[in-house]
Amino acid sequence: MSLAEVLGSHRVVVTVGSGGVGKTTTAAAMAVHAAMTGRRVLCLTIDPARRLANSLGLDEMTMSEQDVPRALFQRYGLECKGALSAMMLDTKRTFDGLVEKYASDEEARDRILNNQIYRYVASSLAGTQEYMAMEKLHEVRKDEKWDLVVLDTPPTAHAIDFLTAPERLVDAIDSPAMRWFLQVFEGAGKAGFGLVGRGATVLLKGIGKITGLEFLEQVAEFVSGINDLFGGFKERAEQVYDALRSPEVAFVLVTSPDPLAIVEARYFSDKLQDAGMNREAVVVNQVHRLLEAPRVSAAEQVAALREVLPASIDAADIQLRLEQALRDERQWATADRAEVERLSAQIGEDTRIVEVPAFDEDVHDIAALAKVASYLTSAAPA
Ligand SMILES: Nc1ncnc2c1ncn2[C@@H]1O[C@H](COP(=O)(O)OP(=O)(O)OP(=O)(O)O)[C@@H](O)[C@H]1O
Ligand SMILES: [Mg+2]
Repeated sequence: MSLAEVLGSHRVVVTVGSGGVGKTTTAAAMAVHAAMTGRRVLCLTIDPARRLANSLGLDEMTMSEQDVPRALFQRYGLECKGALSAMMLDTKRTFDGLVEKYASDEEARDRILNNQIYRYVASSLAGTQEYMAMEKLHEVRKDEKWDLVVLDTPPTAHAIDFLTAPERLVDAIDSPAMRWFLQVFEGAGKAGFGLVGRGATVLLKGIGKITGLEFLEQVAEFVSGINDLFGGFKERAEQVYDALRSPEVAFVLVTSPDPLAIVEARYFSDKLQDAGMNREAVVVNQVHRLLEAPRVSAAEQVAALREVLPASIDAADIQLRLEQALRDERQWATADRAEVERLSAQIGEDTRIVEVPAFDEDVHDIAALAKVASYLTSAAPA
């Protein structure tokens, strides 16, 4: 299936990949394309990426949805036949929503929402962001308002972290360490608190300035509070995870042509497949293009340079530098080509590999996003 077809036929498209490879750009470009072709699209991001907001004509990404004005498309000579909105995910608020949903009563709910450890965990525990992204996705994908939700995932150092996030979060909450804290709190007399508490406070400094005793009290409250939610929470994590395997959800793996990124992409791609998720395409972004070698001799180039450069500049020297730069660029292009070919040999025929060239400039407006989209959907001239 081509990416254009994927965008036309799925309810949810998720971009995944390692840090900095172009997930956000790809997600936004796909959202722009789908909106232009008539779908009502929500582009959901995790990071506040101001550049993305700006390129969609917005001042900043907000936690509530904002419409991308149709006039913005027109300004660049583009037509938006559908509609495009953008929204940033609020991790803490999504987590709070879960607590509200699964707490057994109001008191239990407030106890956990006001707990200092919960507040820390809700925004900074490893995996929380990723898990809440999936949670939010689960929620919005049923919303009739959208034909398509494009989800951009957070900048994880290792793309694979995204898949294991729900599990890790549930494990962290249900960890022996947490249970140990609880036992210490329940078992020790007050005299013992100071001692245990000091070490523990050092351990979790991020939580803020609280004394050992307060800390242990907070931990106990957190653990019992979270246990109250736990059944519902774990079940929910499983549901969300299952939903990601549904045929209406497509994953688009993004990578750069860098050999290390390619290795990681392949690994991640296998994991996606093992997990039964629809890996619909692999995007190799920022591929160096093979520039043509000059058709005229070095001497002719020097002569041409001499005509346009001031006499004080050594045209022969400039020609040598240009030649070197071109050689480097062509070497990059050749290396990138080899990487892409290796990847396509390894990844299997059923997964489409799409290349997007490295542009001279950052992708900073809707026209540039549309241009990226034209490569993604193969509508670009060769
Ligand atoms: N094909 C391209 N040509 C030129 N610049 C690009 C291209 N694709 C992306 N960029 C630029 O590269 C930078 C990183 O891209 P992007 O933010 O999409 O990556 P990311 O994978 O979302 O990063 P993170 O993991 O930090 O979220 C941005 O400045 C973007 O404009
Ligand atoms: Mg990003």
